[in-house]
Amino acid sequence: MTPFATRLLAWWDVHGRKTLPWQQQRTPYRVWLSEVMLQQTQVATAIPYYERFLARFPDVQALAAAPQDEVLHLWSGLGYYARARNLHAAAQAVARDHGGDFPDDLEGLQSLPGIGRSTAAAVLSLAHDARHTILDGNVKRVLARWGGVDGYPGLPAVEKTLWALAESNTPEERNADYTQAIMDLGATLCTRTKPACALCPVAADCVARATHRQAQLPAARPAKARKTRQWHALVAVSEDAVWLEPRPTRGIWGGLWSFPELPDESAVREAAAAYGAQPVDTQPWPPVFHAFTHFDLELVPWVLALPGRPARPGAERGLWYNPSADDRVGLPAPVERLALAVLSRPAGAPPLSGATGP
Ligand code: ADE
Repeated sequence: MTPFATRLLAWWDVHGRKTLPWQQQRTPYRVWLSEVMLQQTQVATAIPYYERFLARFPDVQALAAAPQDEVLHLWSGLGYYARARNLHAAAQAVARDHGGDFPDDLEGLQSLPGIGRSTAAAVLSLAHDARHTILDGNVKRVLARWGGVDGYPGLPAVEKTLWALAESNTPEERNADYTQAIMDLGATLCTRTKPACALCPVAADCVARATHRQAQLPAARPAKARKTRQWHALVAVSEDAVWLEPRPTRGIWGGLWSFPELPDESAVREAAAAYGAQPVDTQPWPPVFHAFTHFDLELVPWVLALPGRPARPGAERGLWYNPSADDRVGLPAPVERLALAVLSRPAGAPPLSGATGP
C-alpha cells in the first residue's frame, strides 16, 4: 500500500486549501498568529480577525508595543480571551528576549505563553518546512479513526498513542504541505459527523471505516462522576403517622410533602430536642438513595418516636401522615417508601429513639 503521507499529499495537491490568508508569506509571526486564532475558532470566523490584526500589527514588534487593551479590542468576539493575553505576552517575550525573531526550535517556542507542543510544531513546519509533527483536534480525529485508536484522546495514555501514530506517519519531505493536508482532511472530509469516506485518500486502510466505527471514534469524553447530595431527614413517628412538611415550590420535589430536611446530624439533634423529647436518642436508619437527572440523593433518615402527635416546633406548615388513611397529599416515592418502612418496623429493623446502641 502506498504510504499514508503519499496518498494524503496527492489528495491535497488536488483538493487542499492553498489560498487561506496565512498560507501567503508564511513567516513564523503570521503562522503563529493564525494558529492561535484557529485553536478554538473556525477558519471562516478567523479570517476577518486575522486580516484586521495583521493590518494593525504587521509584525511581532508592533504587537509587542501595543497596549493590551487594543489587542483585546481587536480580539473582541473571538472568545477565549486568555489567547489574546498570551499572544500579547508572547510577542513581548519575542521582542524582549529573542531580538524580535521567533525561536526556531520546539523548546524555545513552547516556552512562550500560549504555545503548546502542537502549535510550536505547526509554526516550525508551516513557516520553515522543517520536519515536525502536529496533533490538534482535527488530526486526533483523523488518526483515531484511521488507526482505530480507542479511548478518549484527552487521556494521557491515548494522547501518547496518537502522538506516536502522528510521528510515524510524518514524511521527511514536504512537511509543511503534509501538515496542512492532514488538517484539511480533518476539516473537510474526516468531519466529526458524516465523514465523507468515499472521497478519502486513506479510506482503504482506515480501521474505523473497516469496522464501521466512524461514529464511535474518537471516543467521547467520559461522563463526569455523578454528584451525590446528602440530606438528613427528621422522621418523626407518632402512633400510626409520620410528620411531613411541604417542600419549597421551587427546586427538588417542589410542592410535594416530605420529611423536614436538615443539613447535618447536629441540626437533627437540635430539632429533636426542640420537641422536648427526653431523652433524645436518635440514630440514623440505613440511607435511602434516589437518582435525579443530575445527581444522586442520599437521604439519611433519623427516626424519632413521639407521643401525642405534636407539631414540629417552629414549622410553618405540616401534617401527621398516615399512609393507610386516605390522605391526599403528594409524596415523592422514596418518602412514601420510607414512611411505610418506618411505620411497619419489621423485626430486626433499627430501633426507634429511646433504645441504646445501633
Ligand atoms: N486549523 C489550524 N491550523 C490551520 C490552518 N493552518 N489552516 C486551516 N485550518 C487550521
